[in-house]
Amino acid sequence: MVKSIGCMDCHSPKKMGEKGPEVIAELHLSGYPSKREFSKIDTSNLNNGWMLMNPDLTAAVGPWGVSFASNITSDDTGIGNWSLEQFKIALIKGRFKGMENGRDLLPPMPWQNFANLTNKDLKAIYTYLQSTNPVNNVVPNPIPFAEISNLEL
Ligand code: HEC
Repeated sequence: MVKSIGCMDCHSPKKMGEKGPEVIAELHLSGYPSKREFSKIDTSNLNNGWMLMNPDLTAAVGPWGVSFASNITSDDTGIGNWSLEQFKIALIKGRFKGMENGRDLLPPMPWQNFANLTNKDLKAIYTYLQSTNPVNNVVPNPIPFAEISNLEL
């Protein structure tokens, strides 16, 4: 399911190959790499009706600011210490860290689409993610839109 629904499209770091982005196997599902250099964002494109994504789709820029795909590996910096209940709340209700009172998850995390998944599906995805190679990676916090042009890059 994880391969079919496309979780790795956004959550797995990739390197650019001749045929496009290729998942870096050892970083599978570990989110935006916190050590990666962050390039300057040209906000003029955003004001002209565009949104931006970095080449491996682990970071996106839009009217909500900059969002970074989370680490969803079995590491503690990922979802390793999450309960199944937390995972369901994140996927179905779009709540950060799977907490009922957590902030809304930002685009492009398509949690609205996942509301149709059954309990069985969610448990299967959760169980698979808990079996992944743990990758230690603390993903940066989102950056509000108003702060983009002030970023010291
Ligand atoms: C189109 C891109 C995209 C796809 C596809 C996607 N995600 Fe996400 N996901 C994100 C982004 C970006 C965030 C971080 C949002 C934020 O910081 O508010 C996120 C956040 C999450 C979180 C919350 C993590 C936390 O710490 O609160 C979980 C869990 C998650 N995704 C699981 C999945 C799973 C499982 C799939 C596949 C079934 C999936 N995502 C597919 C982009 C995506």
